[in-house]
Amino acid sequence: MINLVVTNLHKRFGGLHVLKGVSFEINGPELIGLIGPNGAGKTTLTNVLDGAIKPNSGTVYLNGERIDQLQPYQVALAGLGRTFQVTRSFRRMTVLENLYVPALAMGREPDRAYIHGKAMEVLEFLTMDHLRNEFAQALSGGQQKLLELGRLLMLNPDVIILDEPFAGVHPRLMEIIYDYIRRVNDEGKAIIIISHQMDSIFSLSRRLLVLNYGDLIADGPPEEVKNDPAVIEAYLGAEEGEDEEAPA
Ligand SMILES: Nc1ncnc2c1ncn2[C@@H]1O[C@H](COP(=O)(O)OP(=O)(O)O)[C@@H](O)[C@H]1O
Ligand SMILES: [Mg+2]
Repeated sequence: MINLVVTNLHKRFGGLHVLKGVSFEINGPELIGLIGPNGAGKTTLTNVLDGAIKPNSGTVYLNGERIDQLQPYQVALAGLGRTFQVTRSFRRMTVLENLYVPALAMGREPDRAYIHGKAMEVLEFLTMDHLRNEFAQALSGGQQKLLELGRLLMLNPDVIILDEPFAGVHPRLMEIIYDYIRRVNDEGKAIIIISHQMDSIFSLSRRLLVLNYGDLIADGPPEEVKNDPAVIEAYLGAEEGEDEEAPA
């Protein structure tokens, strides 16, 4: 049974206190939305969870194993994978080769025929089979996002964090990403979706976490969280700030 336990995470960048004691737990194949204003610390939390940065204090356990001091590849091996807000593919490798890399590097399934078969399955699922021999750099922004989702599947993680998967994505690709999330969740994986697109978050997730400048101010069913006064205030405050014109 999937179990992620995040306890009292603090992260400071110099004087900037970005995570102020974040705690939550995931049990089983949950589908969770993580929302919060720009700069709230959502990506930083993701970076701490996947081992890219170390917290100043606090712990993260995945399926009983402590992962907060591990390197990203070790965290991936332990079963947690993430996508990036800005996609990162191997631009001069083909789509298919991009899918081979994580599986080969992990050594989880060293059987190359198996890896090829799995990559072809992933491509078919993402409706990208016709692109398999294209260089990654030739893909559109949306297709790069799909490729990154595909690379994640090659790792077969228990917990998946998607950092802004819908940002800048064409409506047709949006449908594919929706299907991906639902299907991968049905297959028993826990998924955290970070997004500003409330319609998507509300239609997909069954639990919402709200991060507001380093504090987790709400954690519960979307309908409840939506009406939480602290959440409403955090969002209204952010909108006012964004509406202000920058000084010339
Ligand atoms: N490596 C870093 N060094 C210094 N400050 C950072 C770094 N990464 C993020 N920050 C700051 O931390 C805050 C939270 O950023 P981030 O986690 O990207 O927010 P979100 O993803 O919620 O928009 C922002 O003020 C950002 O400028
Ligand atoms: Mg972010």
